[in-house]
Amino acid sequence: MKILRFNDLIAQGQVAGKRVFIRADLNVPQDDAGHITEDTRIRASVPCIQAALKAGAAVMVTSHLGRPTEGDFKPEDSLAPVAKRLGELLGRDVPVVANWVDGVDVAPGQLVMLENCRLNKGEKKNNEALARKMAALCDIFVNDAFGTAHRAEGTTYGIAQYAPVACAGPLLAAEIDAIGKALANPKRPLVAIVAGSKVSTKLTILQALSSKVDGLIVGGGIANTFMLAAGLKIGKSLAEGQLVGEAKAVIESMKARGAAVPIPTDVVTAKAFAADAPATVKAATDVADDDLILDIGPQTAALLAKQLMAAGTIVWNGPVGVFEFDAFAHGTETIARAIAASDAFSIAGGGDTLAAIAKYGIEKDVGYISTGGGAFLEVLEGKTLPAFEILMQRAAG
Ligand code: 3PG
Repeated sequence: MKILRFNDLIAQGQVAGKRVFIRADLNVPQDDAGHITEDTRIRASVPCIQAALKAGAAVMVTSHLGRPTEGDFKPEDSLAPVAKRLGELLGRDVPVVANWVDGVDVAPGQLVMLENCRLNKGEKKNNEALARKMAALCDIFVNDAFGTAHRAEGTTYGIAQYAPVACAGPLLAAEIDAIGKALANPKRPLVAIVAGSKVSTKLTILQALSSKVDGLIVGGGIANTFMLAAGLKIGKSLAEGQLVGEAKAVIESMKARGAAVPIPTDVVTAKAFAADAPATVKAATDVADDDLILDIGPQTAALLAKQLMAAGTIVWNGPVGVFEFDAFAHGTETIARAIAASDAFSIAGGGDTLAAIAKYGIEKDVGYISTGGGAFLEVLEGKTLPAFEILMQRAAG
């Protein structure tokens, strides 16, 4: 993927004294009082901002926060708590500038945060007049917002069309490199884990991966639908009976390539969906009509772990069981520990997956942890994300 990279511009000495507009994804979760509960995205955005400042640029950074109504500012939509946290990480004050579209006062060596970009009328629909105004604020536009790369909005697409220079920040570039390493030219065997509640939300990913991967591990409600496709009974478990045909097609397409979708041979069941529901390990052929499958069984987990240990590349999206409840967490923990112990290059993404990685403390043992939620999933679907598409267009001249 040929795109211009901000780090290269810095190395070539093209950034000093320039007005640099950074689009980051600082869309972080907050509690009811507005406190940030998880700051990974802010921390991941620091290197780009620091590099721009060090290079002597006048730096503007913006992001969306939530999905506010354009033109209707409410205090809870403000990036002020994000600016405060960023300021702590950088060890400097980060002033927040409101109503910034028509002009921003910032000098080389200074950093300002431009208030929630989704408050500007026309941002969501990528209005051309807005995009041109934002582009006029800068000499260099840097997109470092991988989490929003699947949106063609004013600050992710339009500004990149009209800014004098448009490039990828280090986070966006690292995400492209990691995904390319995992999917474009992977060390084989390539094993993907696609898990979660519904096949319907991940069907296109399963279909896209079934033509690429050597092993496709399914988990959660998705695995239940695949068990139905394999002729097994799943009791009252979450599944989508109407998608059994699609699941069969994925199994067949993998088989035709000499690859496989491993179907669980044992499962952990309960009679109710609750943390304290008694857990029973049983063969996948013994599931009763009133059973809920809440995890893969130990035999299945051990087999999958073996497969992951032998992999060259692993792509991980989704826990394989209800890992929030300890009695049904064994499968996900086994998978997580196998990924951590494996020599394979691993890439993981998605909210639940990140929560599982944090729960088992394996952050340092995963090759790359993506900051993307929806963006990561769309890449797995094989889509070219709009933010990359426009940067490629600009690089092509
Ligand atoms: C995310 O949280 O996945 C990104 O910040 C994108 O947010 P959005 O779904 O509101 O566009």
